[in-house]
Amino acid sequence: MNVYDSDRMSELLTPLGYERVASPEKADVVVLNTCHIREKASEKLFSELGRLREFKKRQEAAGGRMIITVAGCVAQAAGEEIVSRIPQVDIVVGPQTYHRLPELIARAEGAGNGPVFLTEFPVEPKFDHLPTTRSVRGVSAFLSVQEGCDKFCTFCVVPYTRGAEYSRPVAELIVEAKMLVEGGVREITLLGQNVNAYHGAGDHQEISSLSGLIERLADVKGLARIRYTTSHPRDMDLSLIEAHGKVPALMPSLHLPVQSGSDRILTEMNRGYSVDDYLRLVDRLQSSRPDIAFSTDFIVGFPGETDAEFEATLALAARVGFAQAYSFKYSARPGTPAASKGSHVDEAVKTKRLMELQSLLADQQKKFNDSMIGRCLEVLVEKPGRHPGQLVGRSPYLQAVHVKPGNGSVSPNIGDLIKVKVVDSCANSLGGLVDSRLCADTLTKEHAF
Ligand code: 5AD
Ligand code: SF4
Repeated sequence: MNVYDSDRMSELLTPLGYERVASPEKADVVVLNTCHIREKASEKLFSELGRLREFKKRQEAAGGRMIITVAGCVAQAAGEEIVSRIPQVDIVVGPQTYHRLPELIARAEGAGNGPVFLTEFPVEPKFDHLPTTRSVRGVSAFLSVQEGCDKFCTFCVVPYTRGAEYSRPVAELIVEAKMLVEGGVREITLLGQNVNAYHGAGDHQEISSLSGLIERLADVKGLARIRYTTSHPRDMDLSLIEAHGKVPALMPSLHLPVQSGSDRILTEMNRGYSVDDYLRLVDRLQSSRPDIAFSTDFIVGFPGETDAEFEATLALAARVGFAQAYSFKYSARPGTPAASKGSHVDEAVKTKRLMELQSLLADQQKKFNDSMIGRCLEVLVEKPGRHPGQLVGRSPYLQAVHVKPGNGSVSPNIGDLIKVKVVDSCANSLGGLVDSRLCADTLTKEHAF
């Protein structure tokens, strides 16, 4: 979502004469769009600001200026700390107020004003004030459809930094999607902190669920692929499960964070489902779309997590067989209920558990990638590869695929959907050949992992 937000900020500034530059050294305005989800992410901000402070001093010594803006969730949660540690910061703007960036820059340009803050949650959604045009970079694009979160998992800062759930109206999203497609986009990933809690206004005063929105988007001519992220297991309703079986443009990969394989820890996390609930969901999704590939998020070392509870997480991972997964050590976030628990897990234990889990997940990912060898996959060509004639694209299961032209094939273009015979598999990608003779069959014989 920060990528989407950064694009929108740049679209706001383009009409004012700003353009993106490759490095910040001589920029007039620098925006750091920040993440507060784990401590490591927010620490990065301060090292980056230290670097920028030097560039700014150099610019000023040469008679120029640089406006340093901190945007995003760290700005929202820790704006005062940022300006007290780095007084060279000119603007602090939260994730729901960045539509006012042009005005904030104008205020910051006024001499001697001190830092400009804008972090209250606005009454009107920022989307009502963002440019109606979209700049397109590449054939795959993000589209924020839902923001904020009302779930309050006890480890998570998002409900405090992004605010309450909000869903954008269907009509507005169709307009934005069409604009992206007209610009050459073939794949859209719908974004939301809780994307499947989407409940946007439909065209006739009805409320649309995410599956309703997906069905509408599937009718947008030229849009070949639809994905969505990130889902909550609690909001995985029947219509969305069924959409995976009946909407061909909806890709067979699903990011469904489980966080833990222990029922007690899931309760402590306030996740609102049990391990059995999660496994039932996996089964139902597989019944709807047999080849669906699951990815997930795990947190290890949540306060009070015992060895046995961690073992339960390993068991769940072994049972599901994830195609891909992110796993993190629990990081105490200021103001969240879990942070004030007394039973924090020792850092060394967290590290050990993380390594063990990641080793299992890496094996699963490799096994999943290996299972593609010999198959013909439909690949969306995204960009040229590093080697002459090579192309890089994505499989339906979100794997990066490095493609070489095979014998007698025509040369594909960026944005094409091509059939690729997979001949090689690595930890994070596949290698394949494009050759119509090798891939005469279609994708009807998919099998589940
Ligand atoms: N510590 C560690 N990981 C976290 N996540 C969210 N909050 C924390 C935290 N305090 C992880 C969750 C979530 C992903 C986006 O980040 O796994 O799904
Ligand atoms: Fe955070 Fe996701 Fe839980 Fe919301 S559902 S509180 S965004 S982890």
